[in-house]
Amino acid sequence: MSSDEFKLDKALGKWRRSHYTNEIWKYSFGKVVTVGGWIHDVRNLGGVAFLQLRDRGGIVQVTLEKQELSGMFEAVTKLPRESVIMVRGTVKENPRAPRGFEIIPEDIKMLSEASVPLPLGVSDKVFAELDTRLDNRFLDLRKREIHSLFKIKHEVLDAVIMGLSNLGFLQVNTPKIVATATEGGTELFGVKYFDKDAFLNQSPQLFKQILMGAGFDKVFEIGPAFRAEEHDTVRHLNEFVSIDIEMSFADETDVMDVLEKIIRFSVSSAASCKAEIEEINQGRRMLNKLLNKVNMNIAGVNKRIKKENQKLKAKGLETRPLLKTKDKFEMLEITPVEGKVPRVRYSECIDIARKGGVDVKFGDDLSMEAMKVIAKVYPSYHFITQWPTSIKPFYVQPYEDEPEVCRAFDLNYGEKEITSGAQRVHDISLLESNIAGMGLDPEDFQFYLDPFRYGMPPHAGWGLGLERLVMVLTGVRNVREVVLFPRDRYRLVP
Ligand code: AMO
Repeated sequence: MSSDEFKLDKALGKWRRSHYTNEIWKYSFGKVVTVGGWIHDVRNLGGVAFLQLRDRGGIVQVTLEKQELSGMFEAVTKLPRESVIMVRGTVKENPRAPRGFEIIPEDIKMLSEASVPLPLGVSDKVFAELDTRLDNRFLDLRKREIHSLFKIKHEVLDAVIMGLSNLGFLQVNTPKIVATATEGGTELFGVKYFDKDAFLNQSPQLFKQILMGAGFDKVFEIGPAFRAEEHDTVRHLNEFVSIDIEMSFADETDVMDVLEKIIRFSVSSAASCKAEIEEINQGRRMLNKLLNKVNMNIAGVNKRIKKENQKLKAKGLETRPLLKTKDKFEMLEITPVEGKVPRVRYSECIDIARKGGVDVKFGDDLSMEAMKVIAKVYPSYHFITQWPTSIKPFYVQPYEDEPEVCRAFDLNYGEKEITSGAQRVHDISLLESNIAGMGLDPEDFQFYLDPFRYGMPPHAGWGLGLERLVMVLTGVRNVREVVLFPRDRYRLVP
C-alpha cells in the first residue's frame, strides 16, 4: 500500500488508550498496548524510524520498520513533530531504547497534524523568554519539566485538602462577586452587577468569619482571590488561589500550629514527587548548558568592552558598563521541614533589619530590602508575629494589654511571604470603631457585623497563597511559572 492510502483520520472511532507511557514497564514486555500522544521527535534512518511518543506520563519509543509497515511508515514519518497519533503495538525489550523497551506497532491512527513551524519549540533545546512561553502556553505546558510543576502543584493541593479535612475543617465556597472590600491597601476590580456596582472579592475573609458566627467552627476554602494591585513583580498576580482557614475558640497560636502541620504535610508530599523533580532538574540542566554558551558570549563581549574602555579612559571619555552574566539554575531538592518553625517577633525583625543597615522603625511595613536582611538570619520557613496594629486590617485583634501591637502573623520562606493570618476582633463595638477609624462606612458592613451581635466566639484564621507556596517549593524564579494562565498587570490573554 502507498503512503497516500494512510490518511489523517480525525475520528477517534473505537480507539482507546490502554496505558499512559509511564505505565508501561518490564511486566508489559510481550503485551499489546495502545498509547496516544504527541510526536516528540522522529529519527528516520530509511529502513527504520525511531519515533518518540509523548503523553502526560512521559515518552516512549515507537520503532517503525519500513518493511513491516510499508505505506504507513512513509505517512507517519512525514508527520511534523507535535502531531497527534495513537499506536497499537507490542512492547518489546530493547536495551538500546531510552527506557529499555520499545513499541513495535501493528496499527497507527493519525488523528491531528501539527502545522509548521511551531510558534514555540517543545522538544528543541532552545532558550525562550517567559513572555514568549506564556503567549504560547499550550505548547509550553507540553514540556515535561513544565508539566511536572503542575503535577507537584496538584500533589500540594491534595495534601492541603486532605490535611485540613483530617484536622476536622469543613470545605466551603463563598461568593466571589461582592459589595465591599476586605483587605485595606489593595485595589478592587469593579464589575457591573445588573444595575449595581460590585467587585471581585479580594479574600473570603468576611464570609469565613460569618461562618464562625454560624457555628461552622472550622472551615477552609480554596478559591480565586482578585487584587487590582499595580505591582509588576515576580511574586504578585492579579488573580491567585487563596487557601483560607478560620477556626473558632482559637487564637493566633492555634492557627499557626495548624499552618505548621499543613506546611510540613505539603512539603513532604512535594518531596515524594521524585519523577517530577528529576524532570524539572533535567530541564534545568539543559537550560544551564544553554546559559553556559550565553555566558561565554557575554564574557567575549565584556573582554572587548574592557579593551575599548581602556582606550576611552586614556582619552578621559566615559566608559561602557560591562554586560551581566546570567545566573544558572539551582537543582531542585525538596527536603522535609525539620524542627519547629521559628516564631520571630516583628520588633526583633526591625532590630535585625536596622543592624543590616535598613532604615526602618516600629510601625513601618517590612520592605523587600528589610525582608532580605531578615532572610539571612532566617533563610527557611519562619513566622513573624506581634505586628503593629496600625498597619494591619480592621479585623485583627490587638493585644488586650498592649493595643498598639496585634495578634497578626505572617509565614515567610526567606524573604517571601506565603501566608498571613491573625486572631480576629470578635467584639462588635471595637469592630465598628475600627471600620469607622479606617474611613469605611459601617453601614456597608452590616451583613458582616450582624453575626457579631448575636453570639460570636473568639476566632482566628489565615490565608495562604497557593502559587507562592508552590513557587517556594519548586524554586521557580517567577510566580507566573506555576500558574497555567497567569493574570498580571499586562496579561489578560490567554
Ligand atoms: P493577605 O492579603 O496577606 O491576607 O493574603 C494572604 C496570602 O495570599 C497571597 N497573596 C498573593 N499571591 C499572589 N499575588 C498576590 N497579589 C497576592 N496577594 C496575596 C500571599 C499572602 O500571604 N484575609 C487575609 C488572610 C487572613 O488573615 O486570613 C489576607 O487575604 O501568599
